[in-house]
Amino acid sequence: MSEFELFSHPEYDEHKYLGFVADDSVGLRAIIAIHHPGDTFAAGGIRMQSYATTGAALTDVLRLSRAMTYKLAAAKLPVGGAKSVIIGDPATQKSPELLASFARAVNNLGGSYHCGADVGTNSADLREMSKTSPYTPPSDLGDFSIPTAVGVFNALRGAVYFRQRRESLEGIRVAVQGLGQVGSHLCTLLHDAGCELVVCDIDRARSEAVREQTGARIVSCDEVVAAEVDVFSPCALGGVLSEDTVPKLKATIVCGAANNQLASAEISALLRKLAITYVPDFIANSGGVISGLQRDCGYSDSESQERIASIFNTVLRLMLIAEETGVSSVLAAERLARDYLEGRS
Ligand code: NAI
Repeated sequence: MSEFELFSHPEYDEHKYLGFVADDSVGLRAIIAIHHPGDTFAAGGIRMQSYATTGAALTDVLRLSRAMTYKLAAAKLPVGGAKSVIIGDPATQKSPELLASFARAVNNLGGSYHCGADVGTNSADLREMSKTSPYTPPSDLGDFSIPTAVGVFNALRGAVYFRQRRESLEGIRVAVQGLGQVGSHLCTLLHDAGCELVVCDIDRARSEAVREQTGARIVSCDEVVAAEVDVFSPCALGGVLSEDTVPKLKATIVCGAANNQLASAEISALLRKLAITYVPDFIANSGGVISGLQRDCGYSDSESQERIASIFNTVLRLMLIAEETGVSSVLAAERLARDYLEGRS
């Protein structure tokens, strides 16, 4: 790829740093992208997967690191957005030597990039890398699924308030798709707030456990999108909101933890056209990153909780921007994030 093509790449968007890492002795090929440097450092996960081409890996890392900038700025964190990809099959190509070599590449950036786990990497890998680098802290610093669920709960309250001008969730019907770490805790919070729950998980035992605890009605995973509810909460996989599924929604609000809920960028306009209040995933699930960066950013537990509580206000603000300016909630959230970045620069 020529220099011209790289710098005019559709996802390039003025990235501040792009590094290509190769270590043949351990089979390492990786790309590190820093979209925004932040006040003192940028943060983002390490993704390990096979890519059809190096170009596909480059596109992915640029897109993901830019998305991290928006996610962190929308949460008003003084941390920049970054991401890295290790090109290879994590099941067969990951080794302690490869992880150590990658950690040395992170060290070469002198602390400007702090990493976490992402698809294809986990806390055991971070622990392995932390033997070599202080910038790859093991994620057993804490379980971020609970603050993530609390953040989704606050975002959902904000969306209900925006839509119905009511503060209580009593009697609000919510369909939760995916009852893992985040979804199951979210169900507890919603149940305690008086919601009626409809749930599904491909793992029947998880659905049964949530039903036992909350009295939720279990539906099949095919039916959940079309459930007769006020709110649909995707807490399983990405790509769930598509041209096929969105028209089936009975819910007037979508708010959940899953990353990358929109199958394509155009879906945000479709949701707006159908008058569905969509809380962008990177706003709804930002409780995890707020909590995860607490130590690095040096704020207290109570400040962290206040920030997670303020997701309610962030949702209200972005919905008002969307309404007043006639744009989708995703564009409104990106505008909020840009305002924060410009205010700091
Ligand atoms: P998890 O892996 O604990 O739970 C996911 C659940 O979804 C599992 O119970 C799985 O059986 C179920 N599932 C998978 N495919 C399904 C389908 N087609 N229909 C219904 N259920 C299905 O994951 P976790 O940690 O609860 O995260 C949920 C989502 O939130 C993920 O998309 C994750 O990327 C995102 N997220 C999680 C954060 C965290 O702190 N755990 C932070 C930010 C985002």
